[in-house]
Amino acid sequence: MNQPSSSNSTPPKPASTTTRITAASALAGVALPTVHAAGSDLIQVALVGCGGRGTGAAADALRSKGGPVKLVAMADVFEYRLNSSFESISRECGKQVEAPPERRFVGFDAYKKAMDCLKPGDVAIFATPLAFRWVHFTYAIQKGLNVFMEKPLTADGPTSRKMLKLAEAASAKNLKVAVGLMTRHARPFQELHKRIQDGEIGDPILMQGYRMAGPSTGNFATKWPGDPSELLWQIRRFHSFLWASGGVYSDNYIHHIDQLCWLKNAWPVKASGLGGRHYRYDGRGRLCVDQNFDWYSVEYIFEDGARMIVDGRGMARCNDIYSSYVHGTKGIAIAAKSGDCGAPSSTFKGQKLQHSSLIWTSTSPEGEGNPYQNEWNDLMEAIRNDKPYNEVEYGVKASVVSSMGRMAAHTGQEITYEDMLNHDHEYAPGIDQFTMSSPAPLKAMADGRYPAPAPGINKRREF
Ligand SMILES: NC(=O)c1ccc[n+]([C@@H]2O[C@H](COP(=O)([O-])OP(=O)(O)OC[C@H]3O[C@@H](n4cnc5c(N)ncnc54)[C@H](O)[C@@H]3O)[C@@H](O)[C@H]2O)c1
Repeated sequence: MNQPSSSNSTPPKPASTTTRITAASALAGVALPTVHAAGSDLIQVALVGCGGRGTGAAADALRSKGGPVKLVAMADVFEYRLNSSFESISRECGKQVEAPPERRFVGFDAYKKAMDCLKPGDVAIFATPLAFRWVHFTYAIQKGLNVFMEKPLTADGPTSRKMLKLAEAASAKNLKVAVGLMTRHARPFQELHKRIQDGEIGDPILMQGYRMAGPSTGNFATKWPGDPSELLWQIRRFHSFLWASGGVYSDNYIHHIDQLCWLKNAWPVKASGLGGRHYRYDGRGRLCVDQNFDWYSVEYIFEDGARMIVDGRGMARCNDIYSSYVHGTKGIAIAAKSGDCGAPSSTFKGQKLQHSSLIWTSTSPEGEGNPYQNEWNDLMEAIRNDKPYNEVEYGVKASVVSSMGRMAAHTGQEITYEDMLNHDHEYAPGIDQFTMSSPAPLKAMADGRYPAPAPGINKRREF
């Protein structure tokens, strides 16, 4: 049976090997502004991963309140992506973009060169697929840089443990680190969190997160066409591969998972899950070879017996539901009305979502309606005023909880938080040594398919 095609469009060819747009020596002659990252001083930003989100995050950084900010360096593994990001941010932010060709780098080591353009106290943005997070974070800590990194942070046990240690190292150096779980900076959610802690709906006993919204770009991949390299092709379709992104489950569902656990003020201790792959062909009849299921239903259990259900579906023309809820012993809350954290949030007496039981509906303070902008304003405020700020620990925990739900569905087993955190399967070993000619961490089988989860058969590993 066929699904409508997900986007496997063919972009321009990538730059070859470890291309850097210009020679390293050019940097020696570049006079970078000095930075003290306090008060009204200039804060410089480098963008690593110049795709959709990175471009948006860089623009949010440049629009942030509190003092001057400039984008001074960029890095990506694809030159065409870097170029289009540069053009887009330049169009939007004009003179705040000071990233001439000699500070735009392409390749797997480009992240180092971009961060080398910064001074301690500046900010590096990490918006590549998650697999590279620990590599880039390690270098930022070494350089004394503050960081904004996109979610999720990890897909497996070994890198989760590594990232928790790096979080401590960053705090020990007083670095400020933001994680792109923007719900926590959505003002309606912050008020809802307070109302739930104050007992407005009683004790949370059941949370529900639904992301049933059709197939998304990149979730399903057809066979590797042989060009670019298998590694670069997988990076371009990172949602399709567990090593790169944790798959659709981690990359897409983490927002609801994190926000519901935050509202409950607890992380679940175990998960069991269902899921499967109903459609294996795209809308054009081509076989999909990726590692995702096209539906998931995972039940998490908390220490106090409360439950969280996460349902996801990537099928077209079905009943789409994309929202989240918290049931308490006295009432119910709509957390995200639509999307990952779309307002308004509301609370109701009892379990019925009816106007006559409404207790509260959120509003956002003037100018604070965009959580993506708020997260940058909050980070910059912490940097300029030297306030403790490190979101990595909860970012890792949200990633582990996402991974344990995904693994429960993929293996057909009950998976505890400790099972996931302490698992020994590392999905992309040696990723810090990758070059343009490295083999992909996951190799296609003879028929072009990739090892896919097999619940009940592969009980200990996802693939
Ligand atoms: N918070 C949110 O709401 C939100 C929304 C979208 C994406 N994201 C997250 O942002 C990240 C990126 O997602 P996206 O949608 O922008 O994807 P994307 O494919 O548009 O961008 C990723 C970019 O990173 C580049 N890249 C990959 N590996 C690299 C490496 N080793 N070094 C340098 N560059 C590298 C790619 O070439 C690409 O340009 C993901 O982790 C995703 O989950 C978060």
